[in-house]
Amino acid sequence: MATAGVTTHPLPLPPTADPAYFKTFGAEVRGLDPGNLTPEQFALVEDLLYKHSALLFRNTSLSPEQQYKLTKAFDPSSESYGHGNNKTGETKKSILHPDLKTIPRQPQVQLIGNGLVPEHEGLVNAQLKHPHHRTFHKTVIPEEDDLKYTRFYRWHIDAALYDLSPPKVTTLYALAVPQGDAQVCRYDDGTGDELPVPLGTTAFVSGHTMFEILPAELKSVAVRTQVKYAPHPYVWMAPAHALSTGLGLETEGLELPLKELPEWSADRVKVLPMLWKNPVTGQLHFEVHPCGVQELIIPPLPEGAKKEGALYPDGAHITDLKEVRELVYKMQRPAIAPKLVYPHDWSEKDLVIFHNRGVLHSVVGAFAKDQVRMFHQCNLAASADPAGPTEEDVKKYA
Ligand SMILES: [Fe+2]
Repeated sequence: MATAGVTTHPLPLPPTADPAYFKTFGAEVRGLDPGNLTPEQFALVEDLLYKHSALLFRNTSLSPEQQYKLTKAFDPSSESYGHGNNKTGETKKSILHPDLKTIPRQPQVQLIGNGLVPEHEGLVNAQLKHPHHRTFHKTVIPEEDDLKYTRFYRWHIDAALYDLSPPKVTTLYALAVPQGDAQVCRYDDGTGDELPVPLGTTAFVSGHTMFEILPAELKSVAVRTQVKYAPHPYVWMAPAHALSTGLGLETEGLELPLKELPEWSADRVKVLPMLWKNPVTGQLHFEVHPCGVQELIIPPLPEGAKKEGALYPDGAHITDLKEVRELVYKMQRPAIAPKLVYPHDWSEKDLVIFHNRGVLHSVVGAFAKDQVRMFHQCNLAASADPAGPTEEDVKKYA
């Protein structure tokens, strides 16, 4: 067996995490070289990924070509980078643009990080900038506390959310990881919640847990709802400011009017189920990119369902942005509580593969200008949209 000797180990949870919620979430895989997997080994990795949502491989060496090949193996007919190739020309306005530098010979792989990189894989003088919440949040942590306290920058799914289908997986490979003091991630939403985090962590929460901890009446809404995203959502949202938790946007009317967006057509606008079905476990994952949401379409309860105490028993089409966001926030906020967050403590040569259709993640932290951090990131727009709940799921939860 080519998979003999492969072992899995729990991820090192911080003391803040409640282990009861991490029984299946996350696994370190040992005994495999992720850059050189046989088909049989890949099948094992794929199965593990859908069961555990995030896999860690330590001390890997992975060229951009190998990373692309590995990422593509999860969806062999996917081709282009998950956010597209900035074809509209106008995506300069997009909030994603400044964060990404493409590896010239393997353009589906992006160099992300912080600081000035004089030469790397054909890139010269790449100026990388770790996203800072100051550029995005409505309120900010005062300058003098900046290296001590931090925020979740933006909870998200890696996805264009317009025209292209959300990538199945993202691979993140750490090449340079500056060492520094831990920081305290503040929620600043009146709850007093805060989370000590390693410098420059990537924070993950489980979309399955996000669904599981909802009360029955919100599970009923979740299992029925379709989420309509704005056209070119990252351009649309660019003038808007995020909430202090990084979990969505303030509603201040700052989004670009639809007629000022790059050309778009209604048939390319994404309407996706609120819950995405795991292809291996069959579990439902609450997968909504809270910043890009524009409308919610909620069908009525199915026949035979109890109307008593149900929300939107006759269905609804919610188009008021504030109302849309408040409902989504109410459903997602419980799942980013400190005890439910896995903040990965990166070491150089760590490879993390995460099920992009099963988790939400956020960049965290603030680096000094001269701290050089380098990661390779790859995800590919999928060959099809995620599957939503089945009829049985709807019957069970509605
Ligand atoms: Fe991401």
